[in-house]
Amino acid sequence: MAFNLKNRHLLSLNDYTPKEIEFVIDTAIEYKRLKYAGVPHRVLEGKNIALLFEKASTRTRCAFVVACVDLGAHPEYLGKNDIQFGKKESVEDTAKVLGRMFDGIEFRGSDDKVVETLAEHAGVPVWNGLTNKWHPTQIFADFMTIKEYKGYLKGIKFVYVGDARNNMGNSLLIGGAKMGMDVRLVAPKTLFPEQSIVDFAHEVAKETGAKITITDDIAAGVKDADVIYTDVWVSMGEEDQFAERIKLLLPYQVNKQMMDLTGKEDTLFMHCLPAFHDLETAVGREIYREFGLEAMEVTDEVFRSKHSVVFDEAENRMHTIKAVMALTLG
Ligand code: CP
Ligand code: NVA
Repeated sequence: MAFNLKNRHLLSLNDYTPKEIEFVIDTAIEYKRLKYAGVPHRVLEGKNIALLFEKASTRTRCAFVVACVDLGAHPEYLGKNDIQFGKKESVEDTAKVLGRMFDGIEFRGSDDKVVETLAEHAGVPVWNGLTNKWHPTQIFADFMTIKEYKGYLKGIKFVYVGDARNNMGNSLLIGGAKMGMDVRLVAPKTLFPEQSIVDFAHEVAKETGAKITITDDIAAGVKDADVIYTDVWVSMGEEDQFAERIKLLLPYQVNKQMMDLTGKEDTLFMHCLPAFHDLETAVGREIYREFGLEAMEVTDEVFRSKHSVVFDEAENRMHTIKAVMALTLG
């Protein structure tokens, strides 16, 4: 079967077919092999890539920069205060200017409308590096990691625990539905994804054979899990909501007790990172002072356990972003 992702945007996984998602993952696995073997793969020689970041990033920024350099392209980092974007110049005009100079544009920020407007007007591929609603490049890395450890995606019992209405909950729900997984979102009812996203997941599941469960029942939700995935309880931009979220989500903390509830020895623990698993961060220490918690969404014990594949996921961000750029740039 022929695949052609040339000139395609990546705003969310919604308009990627299961085969296209698998193709990106398999291409990334190939790029990982080439990198490990020291084989050059400068397939984007001479290209220029704009990296727009309105929100902070370690993994996504570094993954795009290293991927660009390995592929022979030039990455240009444009931070929040570096350009006129949205302040003195509209998103539409900025898109038109950047599209005349760059071959591809990555955007990280809050509003999905911004990344959509960039895509509409830039005339070059635009990749969503995280918005309030979606985080598609993360999902490729997560699913690549599952494939590396388990060998397959279809039928994987994939449990996401925590804030199920954030960019990770939404993206993993749709991604899991596309790949025919047994997807379970385990969260308090007030943090379930918005109904239109759930409806779309069910629609996709009819085609792919995926099973979709959205529940606040922890024991039933995590039973037999192949993967337990969590994310921060408070996403970037929501920092005033710690007290409320801690109250809601404390029972959903991934700890040894929850891992034992799976009834399995080989359940993977996954997290997109960064994670609050100890007191080695300023925010972590502030939360400890105010609420007496040594960890939030995952305990240090689970984070450092044999189940945890979080740093494989982090590395795979680079290989998968490489595949996305190489496949979509015209
Ligand atoms: N997982 C992830 O997107 O990490 P960064 O915020 O560090 O890019
Ligand atoms: N939900 C998190 C993901 C960080 C990678 C956030 O948006 O802050």
